[in-house]
Amino acid sequence: MPGVAVLPQGLEEAGSSELERLGAGSVRPLRRAAAFEADMACLYRLHLQARLPFRLLREMGRFPCCSRDELYDGIQHCLDWERWLHPSQTFRVDVTGITPGLNHSHYSALQVKNALVDRQRDIWGKRSSIDLDAPDLALHLHLARGEAVLSLDGSGGSLHRRGYRAAMGAAPLKENLAAGLIQLTGWDGREPLVDPCCGSATLLIEAATAALEMAPGLNRPFALEGWADFNPDLWQREKTQARGRKRPDAELPALLGFEQDPDIADQARDNVRAAGLQELIEIRSGSFEGQQLPPGPGVLVCNPPYGQRIGHEADLEQLYGALGRFVRSQASGWQLWLLSGNANLTGALRMKASRRMPVSNGGIDCRWLQYAIR
Ligand SMILES: C[S@@+](CC[C@H](N)C(=O)[O-])C[C@H]1O[C@@H](n2cnc3c(N)ncnc32)[C@H](O)[C@@H]1O
Repeated sequence: MPGVAVLPQGLEEAGSSELERLGAGSVRPLRRAAAFEADMACLYRLHLQARLPFRLLREMGRFPCCSRDELYDGIQHCLDWERWLHPSQTFRVDVTGITPGLNHSHYSALQVKNALVDRQRDIWGKRSSIDLDAPDLALHLHLARGEAVLSLDGSGGSLHRRGYRAAMGAAPLKENLAAGLIQLTGWDGREPLVDPCCGSATLLIEAATAALEMAPGLNRPFALEGWADFNPDLWQREKTQARGRKRPDAELPALLGFEQDPDIADQARDNVRAAGLQELIEIRSGSFEGQQLPPGPGVLVCNPPYGQRIGHEADLEQLYGALGRFVRSQASGWQLWLLSGNANLTGALRMKASRRMPVSNGGIDCRWLQYAIR
């Protein structure tokens, strides 16, 4: 089956490698996505184990589409709706892209909905309800270059929601982006990992769960469990395999976060507990300044405030200056990876980055910067 993984911008290559590692074939990075092919077992595995995608889309049909009438007819005929969408089931339609005659995604989504409910009325004399939050069938339509591709979204809601993060500090990273950033560092789970401005501890939790091979999708429901061709035995087999991959906790080195705001530090501890990592990740309340690092060398990962969502630039310059002094005095021989959304502020670190990787954090153009600390 052809499919598409929707990925954070900048993580297309890393996301493609992950798909390949989990058994997908013909993987091809696209913009903010990667195309792949998978059999049903692999599609289930991707839903349970992939850390980087926002969504996984399973292609169900494609047809030429240059007008609203072609869209209406194409939708009615591209899938056996009698089997796939009974009126007792709710659905939702998301549309991306445009094609001649269909320039507004909201309008195109309405057209798809009309085609579906009209088809249902023809078959059963009644129609499904729309459910935007937790639909039984999450449909995705992509329009481009005179063609429409209809897919099913197997998660229903975004895959970044792992279920461990009830509490979120200020400006938290999405879990899949944090997982991708950790993957880009090449951290192998053997050296200590420290986040000096840890917020809700997303980077630390994603690093620990990746190193322990804890599957991110084991504790959440998926829309695919309601698909007409859902195979419960195969799903259970993939779940059991995913669970069996977990490595022993004892293999992890020190994982440590500092958080200045005591309430956010408490939230971080709650999240760490909810992820089952309280024996492995330590959160210390207070500023990183004056703190002691564990014996290294190790890796520092950091997503300090950068002014767009929290903090003012003048105060933040002081914070970056202090961070630069802290790592130069405490972390000789370590690596620092810092997510920057503001080049003026990173200048205040007074350090020269050896790598700069562009990534988008919730629409903000950022750089994931690597520093080798002498
Ligand atoms: C952008 S947030 C980090 C978000 C985090 N990556 C997450 O996913 O939740 C930056 C955090 O740095 C904290 N912070 C600011 N100055 C600090 C300092 N001197 N020491 C420790 N933490 C600090 C803020 O309270 C805030 O929670």
